[in-house]
Amino acid sequence: MAEDLNIITGTKKEEYESIISQIKGLVLGETDLIANLANIAAALKEQFDWLWVGFYLVKNEELVLAPFQGPVACTRIKKGRGVCGTAWSDKKTLIVPDVNKFPGHISCSSVSKSEIVIPIIQNSEVIGVLDVDSKSLNSFGDDDKHYLEQIVELIPIP
Ligand code: SME
Repeated sequence: MAEDLNIITGTKKEEYESIISQIKGLVLGETDLIANLANIAAALKEQFDWLWVGFYLVKNEELVLAPFQGPVACTRIKKGRGVCGTAWSDKKTLIVPDVNKFPGHISCSSVSKSEIVIPIIQNSEVIGVLDVDSKSLNSFGDDDKHYLEQIVELIPIP
């Protein structure tokens, strides 16, 4: 495993491709889910400097806060609630250009303005989500969806 990340400045595509190749190295040979999620959250935070990036994992029919980088966050989210709980029940990525216009959005930080949530799916079941929050409106598009879905696929699920 590399000890230092190489943070680059480039196009979004270049930045995602660089971090994706480094995430592959970070998770290589490591089977512990929490360790891998922790390093992926740290790598994404360092490269993109988003307000909040991290994971929730499904436990006893709730999403429970898992490794993340950013301000403290709500610890439990029910299925169908907020952006995370909706991505879970719909089993699909949700892009929210303006969180204040998303009915039922759960505000963990008043600074968050836009959000993307990617479900982590194993054997057709959602086992968790990757959640990213930005301080700016309209931060996420189809390109982020494409690359973040690729990143979620790299997580070795034990
Ligand atoms: N905004 C999310 C809650 C999680 S935090 O943003 C970290 C939601 O509506 O599900």
